[in-house]
Amino acid sequence: MDRPLSIVVIGASGDLAHRKLYPALFGLYAQGYLPERFAVFGFARSAYTHEGFREHVAERLTCRYTPQESCGQRVSEFLQRCWYIRGEYGSSDAFLDLYQAMKEVEGAGEAANRLYYLAIPPSLFLATAHALGGAGMVQCGLGEPWSRVVLEKPFGRDSASSARLTREMAKVFTEAQTYRIDHYLGKEVIQNMLVLRFANLVFEPVWNRNYIASVAIEWKEDMGIEKRGYFDDYGIIRDVMQNHLLQILALAAMEPPGRLDSKHIRDEKVQVLRNIPPLTAADVVVGQYTGTERNGRRIRGYTEEDAVADDSLTPTFAAATLRIRNRRWDGVPFRIRAGKALDERVNEIRVRFKDVPGNLFTQAAPPFAASVTAANEMVIRVQPDEAITLRIVNKVPGVGMQLAARDLDLEYKAAFSEPIPDAYEDLLLDVFRGEKGLFIRSDELEAAWEIFTPVLHELETKRIKPAGYAFGSRGPETG
Ligand code: BG6
Repeated sequence: MDRPLSIVVIGASGDLAHRKLYPALFGLYAQGYLPERFAVFGFARSAYTHEGFREHVAERLTCRYTPQESCGQRVSEFLQRCWYIRGEYGSSDAFLDLYQAMKEVEGAGEAANRLYYLAIPPSLFLATAHALGGAGMVQCGLGEPWSRVVLEKPFGRDSASSARLTREMAKVFTEAQTYRIDHYLGKEVIQNMLVLRFANLVFEPVWNRNYIASVAIEWKEDMGIEKRGYFDDYGIIRDVMQNHLLQILALAAMEPPGRLDSKHIRDEKVQVLRNIPPLTAADVVVGQYTGTERNGRRIRGYTEEDAVADDSLTPTFAAATLRIRNRRWDGVPFRIRAGKALDERVNEIRVRFKDVPGNLFTQAAPPFAASVTAANEMVIRVQPDEAITLRIVNKVPGVGMQLAARDLDLEYKAAFSEPIPDAYEDLLLDVFRGEKGLFIRSDELEAAWEIFTPVLHELETKRIKPAGYAFGSRGPETG
């Protein structure tokens, strides 16, 4: 990490860069993870001066890792390394200007590693990649100095468009240079999944169809789509299910990797995804939020949002049951549900175990007879308030034999004093280090699209109408 590093944020005036990337870069800087000589180059169409850009970057920086007194100083050191270049995304000339500015800042001496973060709408990926390539800014080969590109989903709209994007991008950046982000893989609890499963003895022996009755992965947001204009073109299945939820499922269901490196981990994820039969419309329930009144105030429904057509059929909610056809999981339903504008913001995985066979307590004669209502359940809460709980059945203190389920609780806030980093901090650091385990490989992406492409096409060609659910409710009935 001694070599100079240039981080180029393309789409520098956008929301993703502002909310996530600059704070994450500053977090890494504050913790000493950036090389001595690094620079951040913002590139976008907006008219900023370097100073104006620095003010924009500063708006979201926080002092999580720096004691208050030194924070101002660290912020201003960081901002001094931020530069802005204005230009059109597809223009090689604009990229030549950017290149020129980079060379001036980088100076003579050891050539810098370069990271290109495409924080732009996917419709601009190809033109931008070609312009970068055309301006001679992409270093070939795997050695140093390296050039790497980071992209965020959506990677296409279905199997065919995703394959086309992968093929075209590969003309500029090889697969080895490409980092496809799914930011859920950077979340602390998601990164803990493999540790939980494979660094503990007690879970793996019961982690299969013999002991597990079902797995539910739930994702809820309590906001509507707000300013996310792109959403209407994609819908909740492409926005959240095909990527975040499927990745969580893959980590929960994969076989142990032979080794803990990115190749072995991703091989196992691909394997499990390939064992999931594609969904059809009969396997899913789709919904769309409708307007409602709250405290005398009208809350807009989905089709009343500014960026949405009045007759839009785009689902903002979906529930589906996936099956995994392999020896470990045959017969175990994996229920996934995702929805916007619901009653709360939560993402959790619920692993429900089977009932105790020949349960002594339900079969016993008085005074030992007791009804046990709850099966064991493990809940892994990704957000908010990261936690892992295991529901166990206990005797309620007192005379007689009354049983009740209670939780063994691991709340991150109480158990760990360390701050929980933002997912982007970990992911960016991995890109700098060339560590690819938390990024989506092209065959993994292909397997993910194969599961969802048929149902997406069917919903669209048959113009299936999503069930309405009131903003802030628990969503439509899913049976
Ligand atoms: C994004 C989705 O990937 O994740 C958004 O496109 C969603 O629709 C967001 O709101 C949620 O991210 P987080 O980290 O706030 O859970």
